[in-house]
Amino acid sequence: MSKSVSHSSSKSLSRPFQYPSAAAPLSCGPHSLADLAVQYGTPLYVYSADQILERLALFQQSLAARPHLVCYAVKANSSLAILKLLAAHGAGFDIVSGGELQRVLTVAPEAAARVVFSGVGKTASEIDLALEANILAFNVESESELALLASRAAKRKRKARFALRVNPDVFAETHPYISTGLREHKFGIDIRQARSIYNEAAANRWLSAHGVSVHIGSQIRSADPFGAAMQRVARLVQQLAGDGIRIKSVDAGGGLGIDYHAASNFDPQAKVLEYTSALEAALTGLDVQLLLEPGRFLVAQAGALLARVLYVKRNGKKTFVVTDAATNDLIRPALYQAFHEIVPVSPRPGRASAVDVVGPVCETGDFFARDRKLKPLEPGDLVAILDAGAYGMVQSSNYNTRPRPAEVLLHGDKATLIRRRETIADLLAPELHDVTNRY
Ligand code: LLP
Repeated sequence: MSKSVSHSSSKSLSRPFQYPSAAAPLSCGPHSLADLAVQYGTPLYVYSADQILERLALFQQSLAARPHLVCYAVKANSSLAILKLLAAHGAGFDIVSGGELQRVLTVAPEAAARVVFSGVGKTASEIDLALEANILAFNVESESELALLASRAAKRKRKARFALRVNPDVFAETHPYISTGLREHKFGIDIRQARSIYNEAAANRWLSAHGVSVHIGSQIRSADPFGAAMQRVARLVQQLAGDGIRIKSVDAGGGLGIDYHAASNFDPQAKVLEYTSALEAALTGLDVQLLLEPGRFLVAQAGALLARVLYVKRNGKKTFVVTDAATNDLIRPALYQAFHEIVPVSPRPGRASAVDVVGPVCETGDFFARDRKLKPLEPGDLVAILDAGAYGMVQSSNYNTRPRPAEVLLHGDKATLIRRRETIADLLAPELHDVTNRY
């Protein structure tokens, strides 16, 4: 693992998709994206396994001085092949549903012991599944969930390890839809109530207080709020120690942001160091294992969505580049006004001009970029929508009865199809239309 970092330039750490020379198409290592588009069709998600592993190693190495576990947030990209890759390199997993647990168990049953289960609405059957799998810990989000966990654990006579997910009431600058660390949000238990809940739980023989967890939101660029939240968690851990409750782990959650703008001097290695130093500073003197739940930081920049230009049309002063990928394939621009770099796979000569890059879906919200200055594009050209490895495919849908893209994983000189393109037959299969006399 350490090898992959030491021989990587910081450039490959931040941007795996590059033009190897002025005349060459956009590539990922030895793989030309133009060739991949021909071989697998478009729209196509392409991921760099090498970059994912580099990012994992950054966290693992910067925490080397303390017992730690990087629990990849499965929700960011739940591709089985990516889970398998991460499990093989020592990652644990942060899951938020029984379905995500089943994904982990399918590819890496031995990793169950490295799974934490987050989420505000765990059902009894999801809890049962996780107890059966003997996961590392439940990140419990309410007193009623803790009561349900205790009763399910008692039923199967198996002690449940839990952490309370505390809400530290820390503000973090990010999009309001993905901010979670304030009291007004639905997440976690007010940190002021946590101590008494731990003390009550200590009396229940089916509950074992394993940790304290916190997650303040996603795409947070500054390390400061993470440090502030961890300081509050550390204070709680000390208070609990005074009460005779020994906490073994603290879980800092996920949320470390990336820079979606190519022009920035984003240095992932420095970012991880800044982040882990802020956490470490808060934990000085505490003998606890540190869990992290990064999602985006591990996979976002490793992924690109490849699309082909179908049409270029001009309406008055506006130019629209219509691609075969749409908001159903990548919803982030429409949902969070998110910025994604878009680059031509084989740039044409000529001046850049402002265009809207849109998809075929019948909504004005179906766009990837508005008034973006791009080099000339013609029908048949390929574009890559960058930094699409996190919250891309997982948030895709079949809106407009559009089959979801295929996915390819690149590892060294190997390219592997890890999800075939959906067919219309796949989409229609669950539907029951042969019941006309019933409706
Ligand atoms: N842990 C918990 C409890 C979470 O809720 C999340 C993300 C993570 C870890 C991972 O956060 P990350 O490291 O990826 O920021 N769909 C949105 C992001 C939603 C994040 C939800 N929770 C987007 O596309 O920006």
